Amino acid sequence: MPADLTSSGISPDQPAPSPDGAGTRRSPAAAPMVPPQDTARLHLQVLMRRKVDQAELILRGLAEGDLNSVQKAADELVQIAAQANWSVNPRANLATQYEAEFQQRAALLANIARSGDLHASYYQFLQVIFACFNCHDQLRPAGYQGR
Ligand code: HEC
Repeated sequence: MPADLTSSGISPDQPAPSPDGAGTRRSPAAAPMVPPQDTARLHLQVLMRRKVDQAELILRGLAEGDLNSVQKAADELVQIAAQANWSVNPRANLATQYEAEFQQRAALLANIARSGDLHASYYQFLQVIFACFNCHDQLRPAGYQGR
């Protein structure tokens, strides 16, 4: 995991605890143990793994000709995309734009699968997957190696 998180949320100039034990009031700045941007990033990683799960279900559904499963998993992708909060990303606008594009493609896949068109579903699945990789190319942290 690249160490690109610049703020630990801990200020180096917090006052030392007072020796007489009287100064036990805590600075509010010291309260959150996990900086908010770390939590947001972890949440995003969980969402990404759920995207893989749903993409796998879609692949299986397409391979088996089970468009009902394809539609359900594509609807899930739409929901997952809706939960992604990119506001902590330094390029939040771009990220939000890519996520919206991804979501639209997933929604279209759900509609096509619902209509029962297997071949159009194949094609639209690839459009969804390209939306994953387009965003990764632009937005994953530099030198991203996975884990
Ligand atoms: C809007 C942009 C965007 C889209 C769309 C997107 N990703 Fe990601 N993905 C990211 C970013 C950014 C990261 C790096 C997150 C981090 O570690 O900070 C990432 C990380 C991941 C990871 C690694 C998660 C981890 O545990 O570290 C996986 C797996 C992944 N994406 C899968 C997918 C799949 C599959 C799709 C499409 C079905 C997809 N992503 C669509 C932006 C996107």
